Amino acid sequence: MVDEYGMNFQFSVRRIFTGSDEVWVEAELLLHCRPGVLKGAVIMNVWDERYAGEAYHFGTEPNAFLRTQERLLKPGMNCLAVADGEGRNGVWLAEQGLTVRSVDSSTVALKKAQALARQRGVAVAFELADLMHWDWGVARYDVVVGIFIQFAAPAVREQMFTRIRRSLKPGGLLLLQGYTPRQLEFKTGGPALVENLYTEAMLRAAFADMDILHLREHDDRIEEGAGHSGMSALIDLVARKP
Ligand SMILES: C[S@@+](CC[C@H](N)C(=O)[O-])C[C@H]1O[C@@H](n2cnc3c(N)ncnc32)[C@H](O)[C@@H]1O
Repeated sequence: MVDEYGMNFQFSVRRIFTGSDEVWVEAELLLHCRPGVLKGAVIMNVWDERYAGEAYHFGTEPNAFLRTQERLLKPGMNCLAVADGEGRNGVWLAEQGLTVRSVDSSTVALKKAQALARQRGVAVAFELADLMHWDWGVARYDVVVGIFIQFAAPAVREQMFTRIRRSLKPGGLLLLQGYTPRQLEFKTGGPALVENLYTEAMLRAAFADMDILHLREHDDRIEEGAGHSGMSALIDLVARKP
């Protein structure tokens, strides 16, 4: 693998997991070599590969749970769309009059998200960034939206949830949807790693310092492009920072 500075790294791949929505590689770093010594494959962002092509992998319509929370959204609210992918949710939020910052680490997704915003005639502040190395800010947002952001393993998820809480203004809202472990039976989207999935107890504990306005596990059919299609084990959270 060649990193962004052109240095070569050699990895020993231990395990590869594939889900309908994710590919995970567990690898050990072996060497850090002089540039040009190693000739290996460049490991691409798996999301760039998934988003390649004309079609929007999760469609261009907003997530159904997000749409049901429309009454909580007011024009002028400052909103962060976390790992917003090809922009279907960020663009819809901007159409509701919110001031939206949409962050994702896929270059391909970013270009498609920008095209969608242009097509719909809305302005969104898109940012290409790894959210684990990004300045989330403190008390910056009225709303943080996290729709299917289960790329994060438990330790990373804990950090991300802490940053979400910090980045919300007092009174700010978190709208989060993910899959529960039962999704591993449905196999209609989401990561194949059970530890990345959410349960009610986990989210209640993670956001114990917020007012939980709505928390529900439910099985429902969703149709969100090729990426999420069919009966799904979902969990929805609406929480307010005191
Ligand atoms: C399941 S997709 C969901 C996309 C979008 N929220 C939606 O519902 O259409 C997960 C997204 O997380 C992004 N992602 C994964 N790791 C990331 C990271 N460390 N920082 C920023 N984005 C990340 C991927 O590029 C991908 O777009």
